[in-house]
This record gives sequence, C-alpha cells and structure tokens, in this order.
Amino acid sequence: MTAPTRLTIRRPDDWHVHLRDGDMLEAVASYTARQFARAIVMPNLAPPIISVASAEAYRTRILSALPTGSDFTPLMTCYLIDRAEPAELVRGFESGAWAAAKLYPAHATTNSAYGVTEIRTLRPALEAMQRIGMPLLVHGEVTDPEVDIFDREAVFIERVLAGVVRDFPALKIVFEHITTAEAVAFVEGAGPNVAATVTPQHLLLNRNAIFADGIRPHAYCLPVAKRERHRLAVRRAAVSGSPKFFLGTDSAPHAVEKKEGACGCAGIFNAPYALEAYAGVFEAEDALDRLEGFASEHGPRFYGLPLNEGTVTLERSGTVVPDRLPAAGTSLIPFQAGETLSWRFVA
Ligand code: DOR
Ligand code: ZN
Repeated sequence: MTAPTRLTIRRPDDWHVHLRDGDMLEAVASYTARQFARAIVMPNLAPPIISVASAEAYRTRILSALPTGSDFTPLMTCYLIDRAEPAELVRGFESGAWAAAKLYPAHATTNSAYGVTEIRTLRPALEAMQRIGMPLLVHGEVTDPEVDIFDREAVFIERVLAGVVRDFPALKIVFEHITTAEAVAFVEGAGPNVAATVTPQHLLLNRNAIFADGIRPHAYCLPVAKRERHRLAVRRAAVSGSPKFFLGTDSAPHAVEKKEGACGCAGIFNAPYALEAYAGVFEAEDALDRLEGFASEHGPRFYGLPLNEGTVTLERSGTVVPDRLPAAGTSLIPFQAGETLSWRFVA
C-alpha cells in the first residue's frame, strides 16, 4: 500500500492539558484550540482550582484568551485536597462547572503542594464521584523519597491505585500520562471504567533522551520517561485500538529560563505540533487507521460526551519545529524543537 499524503479524521480532543493563567494562558491557549475541539484543563494553578467559583472564573479567563471565532471548549477539573468536600464535587459536576477531579499526590509535581497526603481522607469524595459518574483523574506516582524516581509509577499502582479500584469498583478512573509496562498491564486488566491517557513524549522518548550528550531539560517531565521496554509497551497500547487508551498531551509550558537552570521545572510544551507528533508514531507503527479512535473517539466515549462533528486534516510535508516560540515576554521551547516532522496540521 502506498503511504497516504493526506489524513482526515474526526476533530480530536486533548484529554489532559496545562493552559496556565495570565500572560502564559494568553500565549498558549490558541495552540491547543487550533488542533483540538475540547480539552480537559488541569487545575494545578497557584492557588489551585478547588471551588466551583474558581473553576468558573478560570473558564471565563480561558475563553477570553482564545482567538475570536474559536469554538474551543475547555472542560474544567477540580483539584482534590485532603478531605475534599463531596457536596462541592457533586454541585460542580451536576451544574457542568467541571468534568472531572484530579488527584495529585502532595509534592508529586508542579503546584501539587496542596495535593492529597492521605488517600483515605478522600473516601467520601470518591464515594460521591462513583455514584454520580464523575471521573477521577490520577497523577500516578508515589512521593516517598525512598522510592526510586523511575519506580514511582509502578509503586503507586501497588500502594494506592489497586486499592482505589478494589474499593470503588464502579468509579471511572483515568490513569494520566502512563509511562510503564506496569501501568499498561494494570489498565488492560481492569474493567472498562479504568482508562489511560498517553502523551507524545512518552511515545517518543525513553530515559536516555534526558541524558543524550548532556542533560536535556526539555526532555524532562513528570512522570519522567522510563526505559525503552516501557516506551514500547506504552506505544503498543496507544496504537492497539483499545478504547482504554486515548490522547492526552500533558502539554505543560514553562518559560525557557525556568527549564534551563540548576533546578529546571518538569513539563514539556507539545501543544503546537501535538497531532503531528502522534501521527508520526501511528504511522511508524503502521496504525494510521487507528489514530482517529485514539484521538477523537475513545476519550469522549469514556467521558460519556458526544463525539465532535467536523474533521481535521494532516498533510504529508516536512514541518520544521521552531527552536523557540515567543510567549509571555519570554520564550517556550516546543517539543521536538529543530526536528522535521513528516506531517503538518492544515485545518
Ligand atoms: O511534567 C509535568 N508538568 N508533569 C506534571 O504532572 C505537571 C506538569 C506541570 O504542570 O508543569
Ligand atoms: Zn499534567
């Protein structure tokens, strides 16, 4: 079969993105809105989005940061804290203010200081979420400093996630940005109420990329990339056609000076060329026919939302990713900066 030169799929969504706030939000929102119809917007601002009122105000700021004429829909999330209030979760979910709630173990990642220190304090919240069908989105890493950073996801499954799935068997759970063979096996072995998002970087990078000829801050995100065998397991899952795996970029912009330094921030800014990156992976795996399911169908079906109308088109053509993009008075270094991609998003 000859390789296609154009690829048209149903309009996709991004089921995990960091849009930030203020000037940075103004700079990055249009990249996501250009490629995706909807996105699940992470609540890890400073201070985090804990109340219905703060989610509604943040949604309004996102909408005003969009280019005129954009029909992009931000889907808001609630940041879970110890003893999260079930009534507030239910009120916000039932009014449509938020689509899901996010569990950050305290100190696991950027702006997670207010995150959960004791999972058992969430029991009433999880009970309520299970009852109303509100998805729990999980940053699946333990923060125990005794646990090696490359093992934190696998240990989280054993110490935390397996118990949550056992105790709340009907709770919808999205294991976000999976990076390990253990996470793939866990999701595959669980019921249809457990799914996972997959980022472009975890499909393309293994941990050697972080240390290739020197330390590479722009390949650093959390969960950190793992060994090659894990990358291959995540890749197989993403292109498998299983409805349990769907697109979530985890695009996480940090100004260049926050990335390049003695203590660089975690996060990869992949929004500008996200679909191109995924298309390259699906093509390399001879699975271009499964890109649409992964990007546009599995996510809405899991969340119980309608599929998007309309389509987007990618064209085969060498696209050079810029070395940097201006943003908020500084620069962002995009994922795959300087590389030539074989697909280009056209509309
Ligand atoms: O690399 C990451 N960056 N991982 C996260 O979990 C958070 C994100 C951010 O907000 O910068
Ligand atoms: Zn994230």
